[in-house]
Amino acid sequence: MGMWDNELTRLLNIEYPIIQAPMAGGVTSPDLIAAVSNSGGLGMMGAGYMAPGQIREQIRQIRQLTDKPFGINLFVPTNYTIDREKINLVKHSMKHIMEKLKYQSEDIEIPSFEENIDNFKEQINIIIDEKVPICTFTFGIPSADVINQLKNHSIIVIGTATTVEEAILNEKAEMDAVVLQGSEAGGHRGTFKKSIQESLIGLISLIPQASDHVHIPLIAAGGIMDGRGVMAAKCLGAKGFQFGTAFLTCVESGANQVYKDAILHSTEDQTVLTTAFSGKIARGIKNTFITEMEKVKEDIPVYPIQNELTKGIRKAAGTLKNQEYMSLWSGQSPRLAKSSTAKELIEQIISETEKISSSYSN
Ligand SMILES: Cc1cc2nc3c(=O)[nH]c(=O)nc-3n(C[C@H](O)[C@H](O)[C@H](O)COP(=O)(O)O)c2cc1C
Repeated sequence: MGMWDNELTRLLNIEYPIIQAPMAGGVTSPDLIAAVSNSGGLGMMGAGYMAPGQIREQIRQIRQLTDKPFGINLFVPTNYTIDREKINLVKHSMKHIMEKLKYQSEDIEIPSFEENIDNFKEQINIIIDEKVPICTFTFGIPSADVINQLKNHSIIVIGTATTVEEAILNEKAEMDAVVLQGSEAGGHRGTFKKSIQESLIGLISLIPQASDHVHIPLIAAGGIMDGRGVMAAKCLGAKGFQFGTAFLTCVESGANQVYKDAILHSTEDQTVLTTAFSGKIARGIKNTFITEMEKVKEDIPVYPIQNELTKGIRKAAGTLKNQEYMSLWSGQSPRLAKSSTAKELIEQIISETEKISSSYSN
């Protein structure tokens, strides 16, 4: 397999080190995951928001579609306290939006941090019980207990880092590999050590510096959409390539068609970092909701509180196909997004990378 065989493909037991990013919120459908794994890459389930029973159901659906390895990604719970006053303030600020979308606000029950931890433990138990081969994390590093539990069942564990320091911490926690999430990346930032301001490192800076300080395989994520991105990340020291936005617009992805179209018609200067939708900073295409919430950004409660508070708005907007109030997560390379099948995308990435590679060696 020449240029593709490396320690990461051997670790994950896959043909190509092309990883379809886990994308929580219904994007990573069993169809998408299976199509990627069947094409020789690694399909990943974004299970952060999913109930344990739902994860089990989807694992079984994936297994009907492929016997190749796939992985599951979870959110490491981060501590928070529920501030009723802040919740009422932001609810008041969002009232006119709910009215506009004709959405009747229900009584929203916000789970406590302790409930979140219990849910996380149950998610881990399902992964072990179903013998899922690979488990990845974002938003932090799970406890040594959780890591050992997974490792004792021969499950490969992979963390997420947005700085060299976070990559070192993942290695120290005995992760088998680490995803380097550059500032270009779409969706939530995995940052857990320092402030967001300090942790917005572009991939061209992040990969080689992490490579000098970390020995586990590095997986590059952020703005990579084709063979050019793969080749560049490879030259800088990455062994694997995680694509989010590029798979989001694929036919098999579970994203709403309005959302796919928004990405397909966007440019690199239209994505912004915002806490508007979830209380945690994430990159997405700027829209009315982000602009409106910018005015009251001091009142936005932390993740996952704001995420619960905007659920109804996002759902109503999705049903109405109104992209102005949906979360349109996207990386900084939307001009390179295409509408194709996952198999076609992978084949294209492989052939393009090989072509570039051979043009250098001749
Ligand atoms: C819609 C969307 C949802 C995402 N959800 C997750 C997630 O659940 N877990 C995670 O580790 N990363 C998540 N990410 C981030 C990706 O893992 C990855 O860092 C990012 O997609 C790379 O940038 P790109 O979109 O430019 O390829 C998400 C990204 C997007 C676009």
